Amino acid sequence: MKNLTQPLFDLTGKTAIVTGAGQGIGRGIAEGLATAGASIVIADINSDTMSQTSSHIRETCKVEVMEFSLDVRREEQVLNLMDETIAAFGSLDILVNNAGIVTISEPQSMSMEDWDKTMDINLRSVFVLCQNAYHHLKKSANGKIINIASIYAIFGAQYLPSYAASKSGLVQLTRSLAIAWAPDNIQANCILPGWINTPLSIEGRKNNPAAHDIVVGRTPAGRWGDPQDLAGTAIFLASGASQYVTGVSIPVDGGYSIN
Ligand code: NAI
Repeated sequence: MKNLTQPLFDLTGKTAIVTGAGQGIGRGIAEGLATAGASIVIADINSDTMSQTSSHIRETCKVEVMEFSLDVRREEQVLNLMDETIAAFGSLDILVNNAGIVTISEPQSMSMEDWDKTMDINLRSVFVLCQNAYHHLKKSANGKIINIASIYAIFGAQYLPSYAASKSGLVQLTRSLAIAWAPDNIQANCILPGWINTPLSIEGRKNNPAAHDIVVGRTPAGRWGDPQDLAGTAIFLASGASQYVTGVSIPVDGGYSIN
């Protein structure tokens, strides 16, 4: 029987930018896209983790990898990222907006500095990246935007008011881009990760050790996720397999959000 799977999910010849790919979920996604054949641009504020990720991908996947140091909040750096990606690879086909932060505080005591920082990194910068990527994605045979939101786009969060607001805003931004850019054959979708083992969440659990078991107890899959658990959904949303899928938000959470 003819193998339909390979061409549907094959990313050979495609170029993907993944922000925040130095570690955690971004790294898991970058490795997944590279496994499917994409050339990868790792864009992160942390040069050390970035070079570890790029060496690993080069060695294991044998694809082209470029490192680009940036703070996603800096618009001139975002512009340079697009220019250098095109100069190096000739096209941009896939943009994964993954870089994000958490600021923990009850609403009544949250500083405006923390509010603004969360909104800037998690929401405003994603818009800037998408806007700057648009003309390049339009030139691609099939442009793809994958925004990494959170299950806190669905739930309220007592101690994460700015985080939850930024992530639900990201879902609405993604829907709006999906409608606006559908005529350009660009699909824009969100992934909503559940509780994933990353440096970010491991650090968070130090302050709340009980969180580990609480999450395991409520998650039908019975475990925390790993960054690699995001790779399959990212490959699907980056590939021709999802050409008629746009504006959706897919939880990758072991069932946490249905329980
Ligand atoms: P992480 O903190 O382990 O990794 C985030 C990466 O983004 C780091 O490499 C960091 O250097 C980079 N980064 C941070 N600020 C940046 C900036 N201003 N410019 C460029 N790069 C920057 O975080 P994790 O857990 O891998 O999270 C990745 C994304 O997934 C975030 O958007 C987060 O909100 C989301 N997420 C994570 C969940 C989890 O359980 N870990 C659950 C739901 C969503």
